[in-house]
Amino acid sequence: MRIVLATRNAKKVPEMRAILAEAGVEAQVLALDSFPDAPEVPETEPTFTGNALLKARAIAAHTGLPAVADDSGLSVDELKGMPGVLSARWSGRFGEKDQDRANLDLVLDQLADTPAERRGARFVCAAALVMPDGVEVVAEGVLRGRLLRERRGDHGFGYDPVFAPEGHTRTTAEMSPEEKNAISHRGIAFRKLARELAEMI
Ligand code: IMP
Repeated sequence: MRIVLATRNAKKVPEMRAILAEAGVEAQVLALDSFPDAPEVPETEPTFTGNALLKARAIAAHTGLPAVADDSGLSVDELKGMPGVLSARWSGRFGEKDQDRANLDLVLDQLADTPAERRGARFVCAAALVMPDGVEVVAEGVLRGRLLRERRGDHGFGYDPVFAPEGHTRTTAEMSPEEKNAISHRGIAFRKLARELAEMI
């Protein structure tokens, strides 16, 4: 069985392979670079699930293969759940080299007067699987935590340097990729999806 991972993020491919293998799914996971003509799908939906489904549907239709896509972001309690689906675009510098730094600086500025007890936040990931016959499965993963005032750690990306998961004193940028995957929103969503896929085939 072949599955396409609808992402241009090269790091997600080995992660997905490992999760599928762990769930007992024997599948060859292909990356989008195997399909140079695949469409770019704009994330125009207001929800993570909506965007993950948009991408998976487009890639399943283009390739004729089962497609998996995800969409994720940071929801900050004090900002009423924002930046949410706008996490990558929050500072208005999407596609620029320093977009992650600018996005994180903006959130820290917005929370400058917010005390520790109101700095709760969560990472959310929706993962969608679309089969060529139209069957669709969606799984969500959430990692709760709080936002620190200063950056700590060099791993990960995005908001990781200021995000300390519940029950941890270190940020997700201070964790190894394996350690983060074991608890992360993306790890949780992908493992749920892999279990559903294992049951389907
Ligand atoms: P995407 O789902 O890869 O498009 O990610 C959306 C945005 O959400 C990223 O640009 C990050 O700003 C943020 N984000 C999603 N997951 C994580 C994470 O695991 N760590 C830090 N930031 C994240």
